[in-house]
Amino acid sequence: MQTVHALNPLRQTVDALRGRSGGGARLALVPTMGALHEGHLTLVRRAKELADLVAVSIFVNPRQFGPNEDLDAYPRQMESDSRLLEAEGVDLLWAPDGAAMYPEGYATNISVSGVSAGLCGADRPGHFDGVATVVCKLFNQVRPDIALFGEKDWQQLAVIRRMARDLDLTQPHVDAIIGVPIVREVDGLAMSSRNAYLSPDQRRAAGQLNAAMRAAIARLGGADDAAAVMADLKAAILAAGFDSIDYAELRDANSIALLDAPGGNARLFVAARIGGTRLIDNMALR
Ligand code: PAJ
Repeated sequence: MQTVHALNPLRQTVDALRGRSGGGARLALVPTMGALHEGHLTLVRRAKELADLVAVSIFVNPRQFGPNEDLDAYPRQMESDSRLLEAEGVDLLWAPDGAAMYPEGYATNISVSGVSAGLCGADRPGHFDGVATVVCKLFNQVRPDIALFGEKDWQQLAVIRRMARDLDLTQPHVDAIIGVPIVREVDGLAMSSRNAYLSPDQRRAAGQLNAAMRAAIARLGGADDAAAVMADLKAAILAAGFDSIDYAELRDANSIALLDAPGGNARLFVAARIGGTRLIDNMALR
């Protein structure tokens, strides 16, 4: 695995990798912020199945963190991440430093409307601008044929798909952005770098979030009133030990428009806080 930290060596390394494989190789990019876990590694394994060459980026992107969020506390473990990626047979680790990504005088922002409204877009103003901006830059830097993202961040995936289509970033458009199903712990908790913040008690409580969501989805498939089911879901999440709920909503999976009843493409989205940690999850209704 080759590791590069600046744009010129990145371009040279990508050209050399593509050249070595005869020019026709497909290159996959898996963008991450590091602190890698099985969720990230599942994306890497899928990338290896779908492409000849795999690049992973690790960059804790300051522009997607709000002023009161966990940018400074966000786990950084480049050495162990690098070993994990090497063991997976990754070809290229792109680990730009802050100045390589946002040099002095940087002034451009990408803002995707529509799908970024509501859910995390409402709770974290500017978050999806930061995500869209850095992902657009990563695409332009690495120039992959395909890029993989987790469904854990479903709204993020929708924002990136919209941006790639709108800005003609990928060939052939949407098909080049690949979503990978959520990887979960045994008790259903979606794997996340932020799970490392949880105390043992909080970790036990966090495991009940997904169980509560599954119970709600089972009821939504029956004759129960959706508003009552959603109210019970919120009560169950708080009873499990969460301190507050940012949202628990049914939304259209593609447009992210709010729905007041199940049907069509409905998906359940939850964000809830426990201690200082904000956890998110989402599930299809069927
Ligand atoms: P990060 O949180 O590190 O996640 C990197 C990728 O791994 C994202 O596509 C995310 O959806 C996926 N992922 C994380 N946990 C997962 C899980 N349990 N199952 C499946 N996929 C999972 O998301 C980001 O970084 C950033 O916003 C980024 C896209 C890199 C832009 O900075």
